[in-house]
Amino acid sequence: MLKIPRGTRDFTSEEMQKRRYVEEVMRKTFETFGYKQVQTPTFETLELFTAKSGDTIIEELYSFADKGGRDLALRPELTAPVIRFYVEKLQMEPKPLKLYYFGNCYRYDRPQKGRYREFKQAGCEIIGTDTAEANAELIAMAYKVLENAGVKKLVLNIGNLNILSSLFSQFKLTKDQQKYLIPLIDKSMFEDVFNALRDFNIKKEDASILTEILQTSDIKKIENLIMDEIAEKELQELKNIVSLIEKSFGIKNYQIKMSIVRGLDYYRGVVFEIEAPSLGAEKQLCGGGAYELIKLFGGKETPTAGFAIGFDRTILALELENYEFPNPTLDVFIIPVTEDMVEKSLNIAQNLREKGIKVDIDLLRRGVGKSLKYASSLNSKKAMIVGPEELEKDSVTIRNMKTGKQELKKISDILK
Ligand code: HAM
Repeated sequence: MLKIPRGTRDFTSEEMQKRRYVEEVMRKTFETFGYKQVQTPTFETLELFTAKSGDTIIEELYSFADKGGRDLALRPELTAPVIRFYVEKLQMEPKPLKLYYFGNCYRYDRPQKGRYREFKQAGCEIIGTDTAEANAELIAMAYKVLENAGVKKLVLNIGNLNILSSLFSQFKLTKDQQKYLIPLIDKSMFEDVFNALRDFNIKKEDASILTEILQTSDIKKIENLIMDEIAEKELQELKNIVSLIEKSFGIKNYQIKMSIVRGLDYYRGVVFEIEAPSLGAEKQLCGGGAYELIKLFGGKETPTAGFAIGFDRTILALELENYEFPNPTLDVFIIPVTEDMVEKSLNIAQNLREKGIKVDIDLLRRGVGKSLKYASSLNSKKAMIVGPEELEKDSVTIRNMKTGKQELKKISDILK
């Protein structure tokens, strides 16, 4: 038997119903914030993804040479593609440019629950502004998209990479030393961070300051620990952002978390992540922040920020929280009682469909009893029984599938 590739999934019609519902809610939320949808290709030139991250990223990609010998890759994310699109075609658009997208992404990850090789992202990019209000609105929108989709337990963590890098330069850490520290910070292994700093000959007090800043969510404490001017300015901006998030958007359950480093190489400045604790190991639902790619891709420098939500993980979180997804329903199931009734029944079905009504019809020529059973398995609200005696009176029997109540109705009245 042929099997589905590792890390990919098929979706049943019930799953697709849930996915479509969640996508619709997300789309509506993006649009209430003035974002407009764009779409980019599923594959891009490999260079688009190695330009910032270098060749090491190839390990994590589905990359290949096509028949013309071009090096291509299935997109692992959509930020680089959207910025490529912007630089190629959208630079003259009025700013800020607010773009959102849905798209499948491909990563050569080790699959597990919540982590796939093919997965879907819902994301957005805002181009042309880096005011506190732009960043606050972006972060609040990420939160609202998930909240409106129905996820109840969410944790929003906000950090700032410029503060971290100014501390790194204050302590004169080399690029290699920073590279060594980042994965440790990412995994919250703060003792190891401290020991590594000591190994790099950083004074005990300084090593403590850095590890303290990484661990506390008390903004005042961070303020007292910071000595560098750039970091102070960035912290003030962060304070403005969180104040807006709280006061204007009513989001209270956020935390300052300076240990957010983000996996991708293009971030600068404010960064954030949203978690659903119910998901366990793969609990990160959303990640984003401010980043720099435009200049690298040959465009005129302008600020950019964005985020992407793991669509599949959102569905998983909703399922774990027992979210009641709307049930798929059919408006009416039509049952021709005899073969002679088929033509008229198909015609009624077609007339109703043209009015946007969801109609199915018995295509197996089974009896009324079996058809009614099938209709209830389809969750049909009504059944329409088309029999010879009824037809003589230009009528049909309409059965309410919930109550079982039946009544004779004129076909012309139904179509009206
Ligand atoms: P990311 O954190 O790599 O960021 O991915 C965003 C989200 O995609 C994650 O939080 C997670 O929910 C989901 N995700 C990532 N990998 C997988 C996987 N293997 N299986 C299932 N879900 C996954 C980005 O991709 C950035 N482009 C976000 C961004 C947009 N930054 C600025 N603009």
